[in-house]
Amino acid sequence: MQYLIERAEAKVSKTNKNFILLTGNTGAERQTIYLWEIGNCDPTALIGKIMDTVPRESNGFLSANYADCRFHDLKQLPEDHPIRQIETVGKYNSDDLWNLIQETAAEFEMPDTFRAYFASQALKDDIADYSNYPAGAKAHHAYKNGLSTHTYEAVSIARQLAKNECFAGIKFHISLAALIYHDWGKIKEYASEAPWTYQSAMPLHGHIYLSAKRFHDQFVKTIPSGTPANSETMRDVDFVEHAILAHHGKLEFGSPVVPANAEAYLVHVADAISASTHQYRNTYNMERNFFVGATVVKK
Ligand SMILES: [Fe+2]
Ligand SMILES: [Fe+2]
Repeated sequence: MQYLIERAEAKVSKTNKNFILLTGNTGAERQTIYLWEIGNCDPTALIGKIMDTVPRESNGFLSANYADCRFHDLKQLPEDHPIRQIETVGKYNSDDLWNLIQETAAEFEMPDTFRAYFASQALKDDIADYSNYPAGAKAHHAYKNGLSTHTYEAVSIARQLAKNECFAGIKFHISLAALIYHDWGKIKEYASEAPWTYQSAMPLHGHIYLSAKRFHDQFVKTIPSGTPANSETMRDVDFVEHAILAHHGKLEFGSPVVPANAEAYLVHVADAISASTHQYRNTYNMERNFFVGATVVKK
């Protein structure tokens, strides 16, 4: 049996034996496998590899010894192999996202300050790293191009939804700026290499605060100093920060405030659609998915 190793964690058994707990994807289902007799094997080096083994089954648990497994690269499998159909890289990189932002901004009315910011080098530099980070290391878009693809999807979803009459009269530039930055802080929360372990910025500040702060700090550099706090521009900045802070939608999902206007609600739903559809697409029939809180049924 061949598996794409999606997760691998070092563990110690009750009898004090080291083992690795693997999640293997066959292209038709996910299986949990206990890997024993692991020697000095580094579990993080196994992630993304193909494991070839015949696991033994006992009391409903699958296990294998490290020496009985062969490991090789994904590209060694033929292109029509079911494992090659698994999403392992995002479709859109940071350049694609930049191009989408330019096309999207051109379609909507907005103040000159925001139009200039969407075309600025500062914004281009801020999204340049989105190709190197996941949108969620343990959740959705957990692969290279993950943050760029998730942001691309969310922007393109909002671009379409904003044209529905339900959103008539919104200031779309607020939603667009918030979506571009809503997960910026993930590049501080995670290491820059798979398996993207958590960095201290995650427990210290978290991406929601970091993203709102980054937008504020970057944007205010581009407007004339002395712009009054009660100006329309600064009010729009407040609204962008609000939409970033509210993007998880509920207090119990980590947002300190909930969407207080249609601009923020649009950011929340576009983010949620991108994240949840990724889960439905990548979860097998009758597999439990903790992100969407459901056992997925497809047939
Ligand atoms: Fe988020
Ligand atoms: Fe997100």
